[in-house]
Amino acid sequence: MTQPREIQAARWNEPVIHQLGRAGARGQRFPTPEAELPAVTLPGSIARADRPDLPELTEFEVQRHFLHLSQMTLGMMGVSLFGTCTMKYNSKTAEYAAQRPELAEIHPYQHPDTLQGVLEILHDFDLILRSLSGMDQFVFQAGGGADAAYTMTAVARAYWADRGELATRTEMVTSIQAHPCNPATAAAAGFKVVNLPLEENGYPSLDALKAAVSDRTALIMINNPDDMGIYNPEIKEWVRVAKEAGALIFYDHANFNGVMGKLSARELGFDACMFMLHKTFGAPKAGGGPAVGAYGCTEELAPYMPAPLIVKTENGYRLDEDRPKSCGKIREFWGNVPQVVKAYAWARSMGAEGIDLASDISVVANNYMDHRLAQIDGLARSNPDITAPRMEMTRWSLAPLFEETGVGTMDFANRMADFGIDPWWMSHEPWIVPEPFTPEAGELWSKADIDLWIDVVAKIAQEARENPERVKTAPHNQPVAQVKGDVFEDASTWAMTWRAYQRKHAASA
Ligand SMILES: Cc1ncc(COP(=O)(O)O)c(C=O)c1O
Repeated sequence: MTQPREIQAARWNEPVIHQLGRAGARGQRFPTPEAELPAVTLPGSIARADRPDLPELTEFEVQRHFLHLSQMTLGMMGVSLFGTCTMKYNSKTAEYAAQRPELAEIHPYQHPDTLQGVLEILHDFDLILRSLSGMDQFVFQAGGGADAAYTMTAVARAYWADRGELATRTEMVTSIQAHPCNPATAAAAGFKVVNLPLEENGYPSLDALKAAVSDRTALIMINNPDDMGIYNPEIKEWVRVAKEAGALIFYDHANFNGVMGKLSARELGFDACMFMLHKTFGAPKAGGGPAVGAYGCTEELAPYMPAPLIVKTENGYRLDEDRPKSCGKIREFWGNVPQVVKAYAWARSMGAEGIDLASDISVVANNYMDHRLAQIDGLARSNPDITAPRMEMTRWSLAPLFEETGVGTMDFANRMADFGIDPWWMSHEPWIVPEPFTPEAGELWSKADIDLWIDVVAKIAQEARENPERVKTAPHNQPVAQVKGDVFEDASTWAMTWRAYQRKHAASA
């Protein structure tokens, strides 16, 4: 075991960039245009009367400002075994591909004849995802995993409406270990949510499913392995029950990393699935907008997908907008294209064999991590009755240590930042495991990195016994101490924009 070193993060007294600006400072001096530019007349309603109140700074000042902010990121540059999200290396090559002018300088309103290159990439990547899932068509509009789940609920609505059964197919069935975006998006689309319990041993309950599913079921949404790393061995039975009731069944593939190349959603009988390009496929991690949830489905559901679809013809690629049964748009144009290009670059550089191998490594690494965590007193693996190895992540509980010392999972997360590693991910709601944490080793980190991460956990467990206050009052070496949620309740202390901030301060001055 190594002795983890505490770090001292930089603590800059950094104003917001608007406060740093001073009139006349400038970054670039642009050449005067050779020819006079044509005058542009904007309609009065959108032409502004005053110059925008933007901060003026030199290039160095801007660089320094953002460098300072980047130095105050609570250990985010360290090892991050952040579960349910598969942290990946975002390669420079992929960034380079996405920033090339051929991509960065085009616009989706251009004529498709001038967009053939990007349409080819999107189509090729669609084919890669088809081969990984068995589905017949993908779209990339969704801005994250939750958006892709929403795409499924919108497609289900359009599908049942088209069959004249929307008034009777009113329920969406999922289980309590599913990500909250599954029930939430189904509710947003107007379905009644039926949330199934787990069996005593932690597996999703097949008996509960059989009792819940009926001719009222429009859709079943399920993830597998779930966010505890547990693979449901009865998944084929789940699909059979869904089909018998005539319901649609959706595979939330957020946790695809441990099964990449090993199984096919279509062969298991699913009607649709989604992949997280921003997690599993190496594009930068994000969610709710800057990311991409790739949504794929069978030919039967394809007419209801968001439009446009990219179609390959004898004369090149075209955008098929004429889709009268489509559920409509989930997002403008074709989604977040640079992210798709990065994921495409990742998939092409890995190849089918590389993807398969990455999945093996991620499961082995996770089980190595599990093995070492099990040796730390006070930590308990969730659902100990499930002896099968967890897949690419595992939900653990700190409950025994919490009972002994009063130090909980949030205290641990805060203290981890003092060692320059990323605070651990606890759990999605609801917390069905007490004092939870969910590490995911992944294929990215070396054994030394994983060992360092575990050594930090062991060190904090020791501190919890010897000096619990030190852990409860962490972080100590970071620019910010604990974030107290109460300030978010008091609207007078925060503002969403600089202008709103100025208004609030002028009003209170
Ligand atoms: C199983 C599962 N589904 C969906 C999501 C939502 O994904 P996103 O954060 O990209 O919206 C997550 C996020 O962690 C997840 O774990």
